[in-house]
Amino acid sequence: MDVSAEPINMEYISEASEILRKGGLVAFPTETVYGLGGDAKDKEASRKIYAAKGRPSDNPLIVHIARFSQLQEISKDLPENAKNLADAFWPGPLTMVVNKNEVIPYETTGGLDTVAVRMPNNPIALALIEESGCMIAAPSANTSGRPSPTKASHVYEDLSGKIDAILDGGAVDIGLESTIVDLTEDVVTILRPGYINMEMLKEVVGEVRIDPGIVYNDKGTTSGAKPKAPGMRYKHYAPKGDLTIISGDEDKVVAKINELTKAAIEAGSKVGIIATSETADRYSDGQILVIGDRSDEGSIAHNLYDILRKFDELGVDLIYSESFATPNMGQAIMNRLLKAAGQKTLDV
Ligand code: TXA
Ligand code: MG
Repeated sequence: MDVSAEPINMEYISEASEILRKGGLVAFPTETVYGLGGDAKDKEASRKIYAAKGRPSDNPLIVHIARFSQLQEISKDLPENAKNLADAFWPGPLTMVVNKNEVIPYETTGGLDTVAVRMPNNPIALALIEESGCMIAAPSANTSGRPSPTKASHVYEDLSGKIDAILDGGAVDIGLESTIVDLTEDVVTILRPGYINMEMLKEVVGEVRIDPGIVYNDKGTTSGAKPKAPGMRYKHYAPKGDLTIISGDEDKVVAKINELTKAAIEAGSKVGIIATSETADRYSDGQILVIGDRSDEGSIAHNLYDILRKFDELGVDLIYSESFATPNMGQAIMNRLLKAAGQKTLDV
């Protein structure tokens, strides 16, 4: 259903709301990525979400709400920082993990006593939550292991025939999943980096740390710890082609990618290159796709998953990418890109 035009087509929202109330599944846009929604209080709906995505049932879902009172309704021992962070960033790309009470079933939280909650900043998502009267449990609306969907067509590719409806709100705004913070310990902890970065969080809550389980070097996590967010433990966002990230001084990176590409093509491989508008015409061989402008990091975040899907369609065997340690979203972009690469990097 195409709801991208303004004002929102409330007939479609009503139809989708009815599906949710009856225990069905509806994919919908948020400002980060598309979500695959079901009634968060309905165990059966959560089971259907796991089945449609082919997702392990111990990987919990995020509950999407439209009012702060809904967070109070489903949590216990809510810390003061929850209100402070909500005032600063909701509606927006921040998910808070808090202790749950009995309102949300364990099927939705993957058996955990905590629940992840977010108020999305998208008028279609908010209208759907309000109109259905449901809090909506929603993971990203992709098949497990594929890049998250940033357009309705991506959802269709992965989940057509497995879900009841897709609300098409056009391309999403940010293109990377929300920042997840854990509020159940003394210090606010980032479990998944996103648009809301460490500096922005520090301004509101003071001390912030990053889950040691998501900090990698070439030997695995630097701490040896497992990520606290179950979803961060799985191989994720994996393109079919084997991706390597080349980092270092721009001239050297371009030269290295050209050299590797030439050799791989001579050896009979089909090669893709993730370039920027600044560097694209310096590459000579392979399938060169422009991810965005280096001077506009939002464009890089916005196009990352789409470009990974495009390389799947092109059927490349190898992908070489530049590195994007940009000032604000660099941590989030590189977290996703490194995962897609299975942490494979080459410093030049
Ligand atoms: O931007 C987003 O967050 C998107 C849109 C649709 O809202 N959703 C999303 O959901 O990315 P998903 O399911 O793809 O990722 C949710 C992540 C997983 O890594 C999961 O393990 C983690 O959140 N998570 C959920 N509940 C948790 C909890 N109680 N404790 C720790 N991690 C949790
Ligand atoms: Mg996901």
